[in-house]
Amino acid sequence: MNFQLSEEQIAVQMAARDFAKNELLPGVIERDDQQKFATDQIKKLGELGFMGMMVDPKYGGSGMDTISYVLAMEEISKVDASVSVCMSVNNSLVCYGIEKYANEEQKQKYLVPLASGQKIGAFLLSEPEAGSDATSQRTTAEDKGGYYLLNGTKNWITNGNSASYYLVIAQTYPEKGHKGINVFIVEKEWAGVTVGAKENKMGIRSSDTHSIMFQDVKVPKENRIGEDGFGFKFAMQTLSGGRIGIAAQALGIASGAYELALKYSKERKAFGTEISNHQAIAFKLADMATEIEAARLLCLKSAWEKDNHMDYAQSSAIAKLFASEIAQRVTNEAVQVHGGYGYVKEFHVERLMRDAKITQIYEGTSEVQKIVISRSILK
Ligand code: CAA
Repeated sequence: MNFQLSEEQIAVQMAARDFAKNELLPGVIERDDQQKFATDQIKKLGELGFMGMMVDPKYGGSGMDTISYVLAMEEISKVDASVSVCMSVNNSLVCYGIEKYANEEQKQKYLVPLASGQKIGAFLLSEPEAGSDATSQRTTAEDKGGYYLLNGTKNWITNGNSASYYLVIAQTYPEKGHKGINVFIVEKEWAGVTVGAKENKMGIRSSDTHSIMFQDVKVPKENRIGEDGFGFKFAMQTLSGGRIGIAAQALGIASGAYELALKYSKERKAFGTEISNHQAIAFKLADMATEIEAARLLCLKSAWEKDNHMDYAQSSAIAKLFASEIAQRVTNEAVQVHGGYGYVKEFHVERLMRDAKITQIYEGTSEVQKIVISRSILK
């Protein structure tokens, strides 16, 4: 087994690290405080090829592998998880879903601007009464012949206001259950689409989370992706890749907090020496490093399986479950290492601790990951 990254993968990692340090770090506290979406920074991220990392260059993407994507997600998330969730949704839910399952005309029209970073996309599955129980879709897409009539409300939508294009999952044949669900590309500017207020969140505060309402929106037939009734499988398959992205985000939040704690522990003195010389602190750092290493290997293994066209539904759920849980522990301990300074905004770790929590909730809660894993190992 070869654990050596290629020169290309290292170059991507370094480029993401530099970007995070130079472009994201300077305003991250202010953006979090003011819940300000990083419009300019995300535009630059797109220009550097990070918004369509795995998409074929013929559709405006960077043609990289999933391992590079994990490396980049970790670096961006170390500094600003609000930016990395935008990047993750655009890359692994929206661009991946369109590239893998849409037809050529749909790819030319929608994937090219999304993968090249000119436009942002969003993935609309969750509803007020359909979160973990994703088959219980209430949003309806009534077949009217030449078009579908879309009605309903979607909740917790990342990139809800900044996106130009939405992938909307909706029920066409309620009597068929999950087999009656479809997926459509819907443009934000179409008549009948309304963006709700921005959610005032605990963490990832500058990310753009909204509810989206549809009232008698006419969706042309040609905007349905795949066969009639393919929407639920589309969502499940796409989410497996999405979970690699969120696992890498959790990993990045953890490693960002760990690096800050490590640095602080070598500077701060107590009882006559740097606190890193006290075993109470050194052992915390050892635990953090161990957990982060394990999470990183799980993320990279799942990415490797995806790159090698293997079934990665189980490994991505395992990576997300584990990485999001260690992100809680590591960020909590990083605050503890900082003492009182860890509790104030200037030292960044309190933000990372708040940001870590969402990784146990979105793209499937920890409990959903356990459903996926247990069904996979028991089948
Ligand atoms: N690939 C392909 N097909 C799959 C699949 C996969 N990974 N997982 C399930 N399916 C198929 C099943 O085979 C089944 O099809 P058949 O009936 O033909 O066999 C069908 O889908 C239904 O599957 P289940 O019976 O397993 O469905 P379920 O109702 O028991 O639910 C679940 C399973 C895992 C809990 C699922 O509902 C789920 O993943 N829920 C969580 C949804 C989620 O992650 N939401 C996140 C929203 S997006 C987001 O957060 C983005 C953001 O903005 C950050």
